Amino acid sequence: MSELRWHPFLEQWVITATHRQDRTFLPPEDYCPLCPTRPGGFPTEVPNDDYDIVVFENRFPSLQPSPPPPAVVGTALSPVEPAAGICEVVLYSPSHHETLASMPLARVRNLARVWKDRFLDLSRKELVRYVFVFENRGEAVGVTLHHPHGQIYGYPFVPPVLEKELAAARAFHQRSGQCLFCASLAEELASGKRIVLEGERFVAFVPFFARYPYEVYLASKHHQASMGEWTPADMDDLAAVLKGLVAKFDALFDKPFPYVMVVHQSPTGGADDALYHLHFEFYPPLRAANRLKYLAGSEAGAGTFIDDKLAEESAAELRAAGPASIAEVIEADRRAAAARTARVRPAERAPQAPMREVLVRTFGPGGPITTASAPGRVNLIGEHTDYNEGYVFPMAIELGIEMAARSRPGREVRVHAADLGETVAFTVGASIDRDPGHPWSNYVRAVLWALQQSGVEPGGMDLAFSGRLPQGAGLSSSAALEVATALSAQALAGFPMERPRMAQLCQRAENDFVGMQCGIMDQFISLMGRAGHALLLDCRSLEAEQVPLELSGHSIAICHSGLAHALVGSEYNLRRQQCTTGVKALRARFPAIRALRDATLEQLEACRPDVEPVVYRRCRHVIGENGRALASAAALRSGDLRRFGRLMDASHDSLRDDYQVSCREIDLLVDLARQVPGVLGARITGGGFGGSTVNLIAREAVPAFEEKVLREYQRRTGLTARLIVSAAARGATTSDGL
Ligand code: GLA
Repeated sequence: MSELRWHPFLEQWVITATHRQDRTFLPPEDYCPLCPTRPGGFPTEVPNDDYDIVVFENRFPSLQPSPPPPAVVGTALSPVEPAAGICEVVLYSPSHHETLASMPLARVRNLARVWKDRFLDLSRKELVRYVFVFENRGEAVGVTLHHPHGQIYGYPFVPPVLEKELAAARAFHQRSGQCLFCASLAEELASGKRIVLEGERFVAFVPFFARYPYEVYLASKHHQASMGEWTPADMDDLAAVLKGLVAKFDALFDKPFPYVMVVHQSPTGGADDALYHLHFEFYPPLRAANRLKYLAGSEAGAGTFIDDKLAEESAAELRAAGPASIAEVIEADRRAAAARTARVRPAERAPQAPMREVLVRTFGPGGPITTASAPGRVNLIGEHTDYNEGYVFPMAIELGIEMAARSRPGREVRVHAADLGETVAFTVGASIDRDPGHPWSNYVRAVLWALQQSGVEPGGMDLAFSGRLPQGAGLSSSAALEVATALSAQALAGFPMERPRMAQLCQRAENDFVGMQCGIMDQFISLMGRAGHALLLDCRSLEAEQVPLELSGHSIAICHSGLAHALVGSEYNLRRQQCTTGVKALRARFPAIRALRDATLEQLEACRPDVEPVVYRRCRHVIGENGRALASAAALRSGDLRRFGRLMDASHDSLRDDYQVSCREIDLLVDLARQVPGVLGARITGGGFGGSTVNLIAREAVPAFEEKVLREYQRRTGLTARLIVSAAARGATTSDGL
């Protein structure tokens, strides 16, 4: 039986659910009911031999959509109601021993998406007034099944703790017009003393008023009422902070850390969205490695907590344990992913057939096919200047993405990545979401999403593509894929769009859908490149000058370090923020400055006391680099290759020391290159943190470069670098001549 009984003294419902006495209690691992059913094994909740994330209704629910009638009759003083509601179980992983800390980031990200989907779905049900997501971990908090899982309750009322918080939030909002949580979070961020781990969008901290020794809140830094508001970029960052935080908990006493994790968010219906702020709360029941914190007399009986630790000290301990930063969480995840793929990587890929054939082979025969080809790029100089409204000087290269496309009835889009042998399908028209399991597909989704946002309605289509561009090499494989997608969609749907606007649309797709705050350079050059020319682009006005690339006996040699660039999203976005901070300080003294492009080194010097040293250095790079891009174009116009080479060298040094986007391996490649006679200049190219170098090198020196640089690099790092000598290629083309 189950029912709701009213507690008149506390004015709250108590759920009685006697059938829960029979639930499975700490079964041996071989009999875990939440593991996938093994062939020939005993039946479990999930009759597959593998699964990703699974949600199902709790077999021992406290609340049910069609509850039995109450077993007792209530009175005016003691009302009784049927226990209506929803209880779901969320399995995080098929693997019995996985935890939020050990799961790949993509899986944690996927979990966030599942939470969001369930929140949206349950919020629509009339029965549900409050969606409560939580996880109990460890026997210390009464867990009866160890398999990694959480739960979701759809309550028919707003539960009392939330009711109380809402009342406080309402009162504060009435007094100040502000969200109470936002105000409190602003104090936490300003003090910094209790911050445990900070991402770009989410932050974990021990609250000032912590009730448990290691209590932690995890909240979005901007106002956000519920999971329904999570954007793809939010979920990426949340996943990293969540994983990092649990890793810290586990590292604290070097053992799996028990906790209760709950999500507090606005009730369904949206009436309180302006004043309530979504956040996670963690209540760990430990006060030391082997000491439990019990909710005893004062806590359980009087509702008054006694915390045996200072919040500031707990925060300092947690800061020191486990991963030190989000960058570290992401880097560790990348290494773990690389180790996983290394184990399954096929020897060598067979050369690809033309994409038209691949499309027909994959999706069967059909209507007319169009093709698009979009090049990657190498940036000669002008790095991290585009989003500061400055100048860049890239050229398109001979490697790129080839795509075949065909319309299909309905709204389904099917995409085949020939190099990976993977196919995905999704629907346009409705909201498009990211697919963490197939990250490459997000660039295709992003462009179709951005087209929809701009009022174009792409229909169903089949796409197949392949690329000779190494991914993560800093040669813009993602921009090339975006551009190929945009041109294919245009060829199929026939909407008018000038190329510069298409570049902006692809940039927006990457900024807002993928969450990478890139500038306009990569998409612009892929669309606008001209054979034999580098392009001097003013990223403020989008005025572009095609500068003939006359290298009199020299080549542009790209050297791919073999180290896929990492941290690009988070570190890159951080650089952007630092530039914005710099502009604010500059503008305070020189109001005409709108972007770093407007500032001089003298003005920056004048503002030096107003900014942190790191911000000063970031600005110094951008201002210097902007000048170097213009000077390089001038040097090339006048045939002064030596000067161009020296500017490239200076650019690298500035990116390494001031902007700090290089890494040990890339610095080694640059140092080794500079020792080869005939190399006029060498620098890192692209966003940084791995990827490639670009070298200006006498043609006859290429063999010596291969011999000395590549061999020595391999000897010292164990990595195989690859040399790509490319002429300046033309921008994207389509079979329709768009
Ligand atoms: C990446 C971005 C570009 C640009 C470079 C750095 O490639 O996509 O917009 O900012 O980094 O110059």
